[in-house]
Amino acid sequence: MGARCYTSSMTTGRTGALVVFGSKRGSTREVAEAIAAALRDRGVAVELRRGGERIDDVAERAVVVVGGALYRGRLHRDARRFLKRHRRDLQAMPLFVFAMGPRRPEQDAYDKARSEVDRALAKLPEIAARSTVVFGGVDRDRGVDLRDWEAIAAWAETIGAAAIGSGG
Ligand SMILES: Cc1cc2nc3c(=O)[nH]c(=O)nc-3n(C[C@H](O)[C@H](O)[C@H](O)COP(=O)(O)O)c2cc1C
Repeated sequence: MGARCYTSSMTTGRTGALVVFGSKRGSTREVAEAIAAALRDRGVAVELRRGGERIDDVAERAVVVVGGALYRGRLHRDARRFLKRHRRDLQAMPLFVFAMGPRRPEQDAYDKARSEVDRALAKLPEIAARSTVVFGGVDRDRGVDLRDWEAIAAWAETIGAAAIGSGG
């Protein structure tokens, strides 16, 4: 398809995107994979990692995306751990955060999830995410899947623009 242009900032030397996820049952991981694929389609070099793993060179990336499932009002431990561990590097970086996810389509479920992710981020005052979103979740036991793949793709587009815009 289009020409591949690996992103690198001329001023900072930062390249590519790091996409990190915290997922128990896989639905958040699948969203992280979709975002990674969308970025790669735009020519951005992407590393996709579980948040609990050791990840080096965070500060070398053009953008960082962190996605975490919400369980009992808390962001998945792997996402929290990554944010906490790398908060100083993340301070100076374009950071995009997504949380999963309501299992009912009503607005109050999304508002509750939003306050849960906001609370998790408020514990790390060094960090200011450029964008924080909540995507609908999955309840496999009830056959419910509220993931809006168009909304996910649209959000990934804004991340791609930031990754390319920071370097080009
Ligand atoms: C025991 C349990 C507790 C949950 N608690 C919350 C919650 O507090 N807030 C929320 O928005 N979603 C909650 N969910 C929904 C999950 O975030 C949703 O199922 C998500 O898609 C799971 O992601 P994963 O498949 O990556 O683990 C909960 C799900 C389960 C099974």
